[in-house]
Amino acid sequence: MPIVFLNGNFLPEDEATISPLDRGFIFGDGVYEVIPVYSKKAFRLQSHLERLQHSLDGIKLANPHSNAEWTAIIGKLIALNSAQDQYLYLHITRGVAKRDHAFPNPSVAPTVFMMSNPLLTPPKALLQTGVGAITAADNRWLRCDIKSIALLPNVLLRQVAVDAGCAETILIRDNKFMTEGSASNIFVVKNGTLLAPPKNNLMLPGITYDVILELAATNDIPYEIRKIDVMEVSTADELLLTSSTKEVLAITTLDDKPVGSGKPGAMFAKLHKLYQAFKHSVMRTP
Ligand code: PDD
Repeated sequence: MPIVFLNGNFLPEDEATISPLDRGFIFGDGVYEVIPVYSKKAFRLQSHLERLQHSLDGIKLANPHSNAEWTAIIGKLIALNSAQDQYLYLHITRGVAKRDHAFPNPSVAPTVFMMSNPLLTPPKALLQTGVGAITAADNRWLRCDIKSIALLPNVLLRQVAVDAGCAETILIRDNKFMTEGSASNIFVVKNGTLLAPPKNNLMLPGITYDVILELAATNDIPYEIRKIDVMEVSTADELLLTSSTKEVLAITTLDDKPVGSGKPGAMFAKLHKLYQAFKHSVMRTP
């Protein structure tokens, strides 16, 4: 039975309960983080805690813990769960109060929940074939930089892909430019250059996105951070998807048509290798 963290206590998952009046349950009023753990070490913890602070600021909710406290809680949860590589899910809501849209006044204690699952990165076969994606209109709100637990638009958009037998939905704003995937960031490759959309209010600033751009910069891979037109997506030589749980994956079909050669390309091979080497150098050294 996995051990979870709930409001200051570590306990078996089936003993963790919350009130139905929790504002997370009633309004989706909360934020979350997903943190990969390799060899029992949290990957890029500082960056995840900074993004968590940004999300909390975005919803005007005080951070219930200092970074030192988060580091201790996270360390203990990792130790209490057996897998070497884990995927931590951290969730904070505005707490339990009578149903009223306005913030509780006076404020109530936030609900803080964290769980750990074994991290299952994509299997070799998927790395070799790549995955399918489809495009859809990005109909989410204008604060996609907040990692909100209110994920209904993302859930519906991901299901569009699943219903089409695909792995991800690539989101297009205003019929014009690409933002990200339903639960991932997307890169375009054209003529050997890696193109990344700029971080702004229309996409989640991915931690994996940052790692990929750092690897490009330090390994002389040409890259540009700029708005990506919908036409550049449909005529890409390669498309890449990144997230904490998927790391980096090639998208080899888009809207039922092959992307480039229809196989994972040279940029994917390079970045995947660099990502694995980087991960191992950071996490597996004593
Ligand atoms: N999602 N964009 C969206 C909308 C996401 O939900 C995610 C990650 C990303 C990639 O961010 P990162 O590289 O920091 O994981 C981009 C997580 C994995 C999830 O919701 O499960």
